[in-house]
Amino acid sequence: MRAIPISPAIYWVGAIDWAVRDFHGYITPNGTSYNNYLIVDKQVTLVDTVKHDFCEYTIDNIRSLVDPATIENVIVNHIENDHASSLDRIMELAPKALIHITDRGKKALDRFFDTSRWRFRIVKTGDTLNTGTKTITFIETPMLHWPDSMMSYVKEDKLLISQDAFGQHLASSARFDDEFCDQYSVTALDHAVRDYYANILMPFGALVKTKLAEFEKLGLQIALIAPDHGIIWRKNPDKILQMYRDMANDKADLRVVIVYDTMWHSTEHMTIPIMQGIQAAGVDVEVLKLRSTPMSVAIKRVWESRAMLVGTPTLNNIMFPSVAEFLTHLRGLRPKNRLTGAFGSYGWGGGAVKEAYEIFKKMGLETVEPGVEVLYRPSPEDDKKCYEFGKQFAEKTIVLQKKFDGTLSGTCRNPEGAK
Ligand code: FEO
Repeated sequence: MRAIPISPAIYWVGAIDWAVRDFHGYITPNGTSYNNYLIVDKQVTLVDTVKHDFCEYTIDNIRSLVDPATIENVIVNHIENDHASSLDRIMELAPKALIHITDRGKKALDRFFDTSRWRFRIVKTGDTLNTGTKTITFIETPMLHWPDSMMSYVKEDKLLISQDAFGQHLASSARFDDEFCDQYSVTALDHAVRDYYANILMPFGALVKTKLAEFEKLGLQIALIAPDHGIIWRKNPDKILQMYRDMANDKADLRVVIVYDTMWHSTEHMTIPIMQGIQAAGVDVEVLKLRSTPMSVAIKRVWESRAMLVGTPTLNNIMFPSVAEFLTHLRGLRPKNRLTGAFGSYGWGGGAVKEAYEIFKKMGLETVEPGVEVLYRPSPEDDKKCYEFGKQFAEKTIVLQKKFDGTLSGTCRNPEGAK
C-alpha cells in the first residue's frame, strides 16, 4: 500500500489484512484493515498505530511522507491490540513524541508495555491539541467499545477519526465509500457495517445513542468519518450516522430466524412445519443450522431480525452444546426488543427447551410460551403443533414489530402485516 491523502495534510497510513478470517473468534470472511492516520503539520501527529504484524507497513507509509523521528504527537484513541500493538516500535523511532491518551487508556497501556520512558498527556472530552494549522478535539467514548476509547475531531477538516465506531471488517483496495460503491455495491458495504455493529457494538446501543446526541450538542460538523477499520465515509457521512441511530434504536427486519442444531434430525424436522407456519402468517423466515453456520453470521442474522426461535435437542438433560454456546455468546451481546421461543426433541427426561427459556428471561427478552417439545420423533400430530406454534409466533412478531418504526434493510416480506 501507500500513504493515501484523506484531507489536506492528513493521510491514511494503515495496512490491509486480506487474509485474516478469525478475529478473536469473530469470523471475518472479507478480511479487515487497520487504519491509522498521519497529520503532516507543523507538529507531525500520528493517530493510532496498527496490529503488530503490520507494523513495518505503517512505518513504510509514514516514511513515504516524513522521517518517523519527526513525529511529535501520538494520539492513542484505543488501546486494543489491533490498534496499539505497534506503539513500542513507533516510540523507538519517535522517542520524544508526546502520547495523548485517556486516563483509563494510560492505565491499561501500562499493562501491555513498559511505558516508563514515554511522555504522556492525559486528555478528556473537550481537551484540544493544536498541531499548527489543525485543531484536534478529543471526545471520550468509554465502553464504545473499551473503557479507554476516545475519538479525535479535526475542526478545520470536519473530520472525525472515530476508532472502531463506524468501522467494518472489510479488506478493500478502496479507501472511501464512494470508491467502494463504484467497485462493489452499497449493499455489501451496509452489510459489513451491520456485521461489525452486531458482533462488536450490540451491547452498547444506549451509549451509541448518547454519544450521537453529544455530537449534536457539541455542534460537530462532520464531513468525513475515518474509522480504524474498513472504508472511510466521505460521500455521505450522514448515512452512516443515520444507520447507527437506526441500529441503536433497535430497528430490525420483520423476520424470524430459526437457529437450531440436531442429533438425529428430529429437531431439524420440526423446523419445517414451524417455518411453514411462519410463512403462512406472511413473515419472512430464515433457518440456520448452528454447526453449519459461523457464529458471527448467526449472531448478525438474529440481531437483524425481530424474532428468534431456538431449536435444541435435549442431551443429558440440558441443551445441545452448540446451542448452549450460541446462547452464551448472544447473552453477552445483550440484544433487546427481540421476540424469542424454543422447541426441540427429547428422549426421556427433556429439559433443553426449559433451559432455553430460562436464558431468554435472564436476557430480558419477550417470549412466546410454551414452546414445542417432541418425544423421540415428530408425529403428524406434532407437525400440526409445530405449524400452529410457528404461525402464532409470527403473529406475535408482527405485533412487536409495530412498536418500531421501520426496518434495517428497508424491506420486509409482509409490509402489510406489519402495518
Ligand atoms: Fe479494532 Fe476494539 O479494536
